[in-house]
Amino acid sequence: MQTLDEYDLITRVGPDTLMGNVLRRYWLPALVIEDLSAADCPPVRVRLLGEDLVAFRDSNDRFGLLEEFCPHRCASLFLGRNEQSGLRCVYHGWKFDVEGRCIDMPTEPAHSTFKDRVRANAYPLAERAGILWAYLGPPEKQPPLPDMEWMRAPASHRFVSKTIERANYLQALEGGIDTAHSSFLHNNNLGDRTSFRQMDGAPTLELERTDYGFQYASLRDIGEDGIYLRVYQFFMPFTQYRSHQLEGRRGAGRAEIPMLKGHLWVPIDDENTCVYNFMMSVDEDKPFDAEYVEREETAGGRGSTGETTVRHRVRENDWLIDREMQRTRNFTGIVGVNTQDLAVQESMGRIVDRSREHLGSTDRAVMTCRAIMREAIKDVAEGIDPPGLDPSTYRHQRAADVVIPKGVRWQDAAGRELVARH
Ligand code: FES
Ligand SMILES: [Fe+2]
Repeated sequence: MQTLDEYDLITRVGPDTLMGNVLRRYWLPALVIEDLSAADCPPVRVRLLGEDLVAFRDSNDRFGLLEEFCPHRCASLFLGRNEQSGLRCVYHGWKFDVEGRCIDMPTEPAHSTFKDRVRANAYPLAERAGILWAYLGPPEKQPPLPDMEWMRAPASHRFVSKTIERANYLQALEGGIDTAHSSFLHNNNLGDRTSFRQMDGAPTLELERTDYGFQYASLRDIGEDGIYLRVYQFFMPFTQYRSHQLEGRRGAGRAEIPMLKGHLWVPIDDENTCVYNFMMSVDEDKPFDAEYVEREETAGGRGSTGETTVRHRVRENDWLIDREMQRTRNFTGIVGVNTQDLAVQESMGRIVDRSREHLGSTDRAVMTCRAIMREAIKDVAEGIDPPGLDPSTYRHQRAADVVIPKGVRWQDAAGRELVARH
């Protein structure tokens, strides 16, 4: 059994923590593009890995991410004026560009060179697939931007939303790579005998480690129809990938919009997580229409920044659990798949005490994830690169959900499904 200290190692993310050092080797989602929608728009607060930052988009459409507090006397640059290619502090008018250079210091004499010696801490911020990615690590170690298939899909066929979870990133992530819970937590139709997940609540898990993290298959015996196979991936340091191309019930066939989906669980600090939800329509003829996007935006809190995101179902109101619904209609009495996940993960407390757990056979993915985290900590401390920095190790990867015949290897039966088409 691991000691509490060993769990502390993989949950603490601030500056100068071991896991914080690992996470600072990757590009991290900081915002969605709607948060900085135009040149010279208002700056936005960002908190990432326990650091308070301010993001802005300058007059030339360059993105900047500065430490929140002005290097003069520490006023918040969030209050700043975003004007003529720089963010100007409202306290004494010092102005900084996207690289943190002080480009105007109106309180000093004109001949002073003081401004050349003052810098705001700045991090790279770059756009890809509607997300603004930040890199908080050592400049000489900066990897290429992430590259997954959904990021290459046309904008009409992909969708990103985000929401705030009041819990440590690792317990959120562990919910995402735990397939067994879906038969219970997400059983939204009590007594449905046609649902593949209800037919077999104890899936067999087969897991293989990869260069980016791991891939695992859950196999459910659905009787004469065969095996309901779901293949998931975990990409270091916090991305889950899954597939929703089938309705997952006897006689139902393909989903209305067959998709690949997943989450990125980005630590705001030790006790809060920004969950990015991404999805890609795999069917060229089925873009996400306005009605679909509207529905998802309402559910997901898209485009709102950290402190202004409003979720109606929170711990303080018991996630609006409805006991009558729980008795008669669904397993939880809570509406919405993502909210069901948030509710159980937040119910554990901000950082769950893992020394009290009793892990069973369906928890293998969770155990492997923790092992990879601990190895990455050791690697980074010894100057070795952690896994998943190189997009070529995962850029062609797909998740899958298919029904396969009994008695064949799932890798053979589903091989083509696991390869990107974009
Ligand atoms: S505190 Fe920002 S210019 Fe003085
Ligand atoms: Fe879930």
